[in-house]
Amino acid sequence: MKYVIINGSPRVGNTCEVIKQVKTNLKGEFEEIHLAKEDIGLCKGCYNCIMIGEDKCPHHKKIKPIIDKIRDCDGIIIGSPVYAMNVTAILKNFMDHTAYLYHRPEFFTKKALIVVTTAGAGHKKVANYIDETLRHWGVNKVFKLPMACGGKDELETKGIDKVAQKFSKDVESKKLHSPKFGDVMFFNVWKAMAVSKDPIVADRDYWFKTGLVNHDFSPDVKLNFVKKSFAKLMFFILKRVIK
Ligand SMILES: Cc1cc2nc3c(=O)[nH]c(=O)nc-3n(C[C@H](O)[C@H](O)[C@H](O)COP(=O)(O)O)c2cc1C
Repeated sequence: MKYVIINGSPRVGNTCEVIKQVKTNLKGEFEEIHLAKEDIGLCKGCYNCIMIGEDKCPHHKKIKPIIDKIRDCDGIIIGSPVYAMNVTAILKNFMDHTAYLYHRPEFFTKKALIVVTTAGAGHKKVANYIDETLRHWGVNKVFKLPMACGGKDELETKGIDKVAQKFSKDVESKKLHSPKFGDVMFFNVWKAMAVSKDPIVADRDYWFKTGLVNHDFSPDVKLNFVKKSFAKLMFFILKRVIK
């Protein structure tokens, strides 16, 4: 299996320590990206990625290799310490550069594990925030490891191992899980926007070029009858609401 590790900590500390323990439970190749060393530059809010294409981002040369590594992996490990009750600015800046993926989700076959460390508070909230972002990227299944302070004693190590092994088993199974209703809804929000009268050009091109526009959800992922019907109903309504 191929794993890409996206580490949003500015230092080698607790987050690295937990990720190191996670890795002992996984078999495969690891590509580690320490965002602090990538020197991406702050998102300028130019809207280029969203409106005309991610290749028009002023930091495309820095972002593309990371996105390509995600494309090429089976599992994503994404880590951040809690800073002022949120992800680090380094990770948030990377996420801002992936805002276009909300409009044009593509990682429907990927599984992810989120590692968040904290001195005492905010770890669950921050893990949930990263989860939300990954689901907008299209990620199929997300595991979470919100850790209060580090993971150094034996009990914490056991907790890390338990979640990491579940993640590993799931990645190796290659099984794709049924999406949540919220994920089906958002898929159809962006699909309805792409087919609207006045679409964002980059979105329209993506949805038509990939053929996603012809599906209720990613064709890689099976939907049962109820979710299929829900998807069709959502699209029917959204197409009329989004003009
Ligand atoms: C600037 C800064 C802000 C922090 N904010 C919080 C916080 O809001 N809540 C908290 O419980 N811990 C906070 N912490 C503690 C870190 O989340 C915690 O020590 C974490 O495990 C550090 O991970 P690292 O060693 O990978 O940097 C903060 C630490 C720093 C340096």
